[in-house]
Amino acid sequence: MIGRTLLALVVLQPLLALAQTAPSSIAPSALRLPPDTALPVGASGDAIRLGRRIMLDTKRMLPDNVGNGLSCSNCHLGGGTTTYAIPFIGLWGKFPAYQPRSDRQITLTDRINDCFERSMKGKALAGDSAALAAMLAYIQWSSRSDQLAEAVVGRGLGPIDSSLAPDSGRGAAVFLARCATCHGQQGEGRKGGDGYYAIPPLWGDDSFTTGAGLARTYTAAAFVRYNMPFGGAGVLTDQDAIDVAQFFTHQPRPEFAARRRDWPRGNAPVDARRE
Ligand code: HEC
Ligand code: HEC
Repeated sequence: MIGRTLLALVVLQPLLALAQTAPSSIAPSALRLPPDTALPVGASGDAIRLGRRIMLDTKRMLPDNVGNGLSCSNCHLGGGTTTYAIPFIGLWGKFPAYQPRSDRQITLTDRINDCFERSMKGKALAGDSAALAAMLAYIQWSSRSDQLAEAVVGRGLGPIDSSLAPDSGRGAAVFLARCATCHGQQGEGRKGGDGYYAIPPLWGDDSFTTGAGLARTYTAAAFVRYNMPFGGAGVLTDQDAIDVAQFFTHQPRPEFAARRRDWPRGNAPVDARRE
């Protein structure tokens, strides 16, 4: 009897602690893609499959275009199928669109290449490349989900209270407590036996550049708040997420010099990287 009570306490205590700190009901969830059996046969089906493989394994598939250690799906979780993790579902048809950062109309190809240059520290894909065609085909296919365009809940990133000021010192403590077991004490990530990252790095040469969306404190905080710790998201408050984001985004990482020309109209958000 005593044994059981003890067991119950041991099991319940972490759960209770979780319940107390879990601040919001927004949780990331998987979006439904059409089943593979619905893929078109022949070349267009092959392109969609190739596009998905590239999203999930970008470094290995496109070594000439990826300068760090990342895959698209390290951020666009589940290959762009996870709510509040910048999903691709419903994205087709949203472009061309005005982009304040560059103050111009951009196409979906431009947007993909933005992430190649900034998030992947790499090179843009040529407009006529098979890889680009495959990635576009995959995004178009994903957009045929039954949760289409406007109806998609959880597009982009989740809400974060940007009136809260970041505290990097507190963020370092959150990092050690909640992130370092997976991402490493130096944010270095962890490679598998095949030499590719099993857990992606958070800073250093193999991480995203200073020009990436994720290098901005509140953008990174919104990502982390709803998606990390991986597999157990929901334990961080907005303040925790903002603090830890301030900490890891401002660790040494590849420089993207052209970011100084971003927001040419002078309407840069508060967390734009200016230093
Ligand atoms: C380090 C994280 C990261 C990686 C890796 C990454 N992205 Fe992104 N991507 C982002 C963020 C963050 C945004 C949204 C930026 C914003 O809104 O400020 C974004 C936006 C996008 C968008 C526009 C989405 C929308 O809702 O408008 C597309 C398309 C995209 N990325 C494609 C890719 C592709 C393809 C790859 C791989 C070649 C890739 N990304 C790699 C972080 C990443
Ligand atoms: C249980 C292990 C684990 C923990 C704990 C964890 N992460 Fe992650 N994290 C991952 C994995 C795995 C991925 C890549 C997911 C994928 O590719 O599907 C990831 C991806 C990321 C990314 C996007 C890719 C990149 O490397 O830039 C960021 C940012 C991130 N984590 C931040 C954090 C922060 C901050 C914490 C602590 C609050 C944290 N993570 C805790 C495993 C973890």
